[in-house]
Amino acid sequence: MKLAVIGCGYVGLVSGACLAEAGHEVIATDNDASKIAALQAGEIPIYEPNLDTVIETVVREGRLQFTANGGEAVRDSDVVFICVGTPPTDSGDADLSAIDSVARMIAQESKSSKLVIEKSTVPAQTGEQLKRALQVYATNPGAKFCVASNPEFLREGTAVKDFFHPDRIVIGVEDEESERQLREIYAPILAGRFRCPVHEPNCPPATTPDFVVTTINSAELIKHASNSFLGLKISYANVLADLCERLGGNVDEVTRAVGLDPRIGGQFLKAGLGFGGFCLPKDIQAFIKLADRAGVDFGLLKEVERVNKQRVDLLLDKLKKALWVMKGKKIGVLGIAFKPNTDDIRLAPAIEVIRRLLAEGCIVRATDPEAMARARTVFPDLAYSADPYEVSLGADALLVLTEWEQFRRLDWKRVRHEMARPLLIDGRNMLRPEEMKALGFEYISFGRPDKPPAEHAR
Ligand code: UDX
Repeated sequence: MKLAVIGCGYVGLVSGACLAEAGHEVIATDNDASKIAALQAGEIPIYEPNLDTVIETVVREGRLQFTANGGEAVRDSDVVFICVGTPPTDSGDADLSAIDSVARMIAQESKSSKLVIEKSTVPAQTGEQLKRALQVYATNPGAKFCVASNPEFLREGTAVKDFFHPDRIVIGVEDEESERQLREIYAPILAGRFRCPVHEPNCPPATTPDFVVTTINSAELIKHASNSFLGLKISYANVLADLCERLGGNVDEVTRAVGLDPRIGGQFLKAGLGFGGFCLPKDIQAFIKLADRAGVDFGLLKEVERVNKQRVDLLLDKLKKALWVMKGKKIGVLGIAFKPNTDDIRLAPAIEVIRRLLAEGCIVRATDPEAMARARTVFPDLAYSADPYEVSLGADALLVLTEWEQFRRLDWKRVRHEMARPLLIDGRNMLRPEEMKALGFEYISFGRPDKPPAEHAR
């Protein structure tokens, strides 16, 4: 089947490349001609493990092409995936202008019938608007449009693995033919008919993911509801951490035991600096707005947001309390990306922390294995170093803001000796308090008291 992917951002690139690996012919386009030129030259604009291998293979084998000509991509395909961005507006709503202009382009360029699939995260009822726009702007009487929703649950850093090994595939459709086409598109993924770059030579045995067929409105809601629930779990764990600090509990022990209940689950209960990135914060905001407009009070999610925003304040309070005077202090920052294995710094808590440190007159030096180039666009004058030991040199405090594996494995004894004062604030609860204290650090994290956790919690 010939597929067009409109929007070569994160979701578009990963989906397009993986669907090509699964045997489809894919033509991907973007209105940023320089991005397409870079992709045509073999450059991948994002850091994502395994994506380069998949793209390189499918391009070489002729199953994935890039074009700056959106009309060509649409005309040459049976199915069009819309993967454009839906960033927040000033009010927090999702900005759907890119979806609108793509709909117009598809309508005007199509000479034959198409299945148009929203993959971008959109508020419920966008499918209805999309369908209307396609009908209104259609110029060719031979072009009939079906609309479907196929939300993506990819996590940055493991997106290729997530695409090939999903927990579930959700499709929102309104007719049998659209369902049939989507089943055909995903059949190779469900049957394991692709060369998986993550697991070589063979993928581990796994149960076949659920293929969930719903209405379009439900599919749109499922995406917002999933991301919001993940944020809710994290904020819950973070409030538990605050409570543990006051009452002398250990949040690692508490969340581990709470998460052992399969009705709750152990993932996304890691306390610390809170969630960032371009999905969770913006989707929660958009979901709250959507609920407000629908006349439903989603105060629960407003609290999730409030708790999350407070995490940066709490980290800085801990730092201020320990340092007393902030002005002129040398602060080393380990980690800028919103989470490990990505170079994405959008809505990363570390960016806000650095901004506030600079405003307090601190002298900041930062490192990140992948995100320094992007950080330079936000803080061009900040001191950066690829070497974490250099970042520790002469520092009055060191802050762990992203839990990269490289940081976990540092020679912490050496780090301690490089520092002017061995004050270590672990915003990600990445290190073991007892080990850091034994090395002579003044170690501060979230919700973990001085006493080592019981053996079973390790
Ligand atoms: C998220 C969803 O997980 C994914 O399904 C959706 O398609 C896109 O949004 P992503 O933005 O890549 O993916 O990041 P995710 O792995 O969900 O992490 C989000 C943030 O939460 C990160 O800042 C991470 O550090 C933080 N986090 C995660 C915690 O603070 N605690 C946790 O227990 C888990």
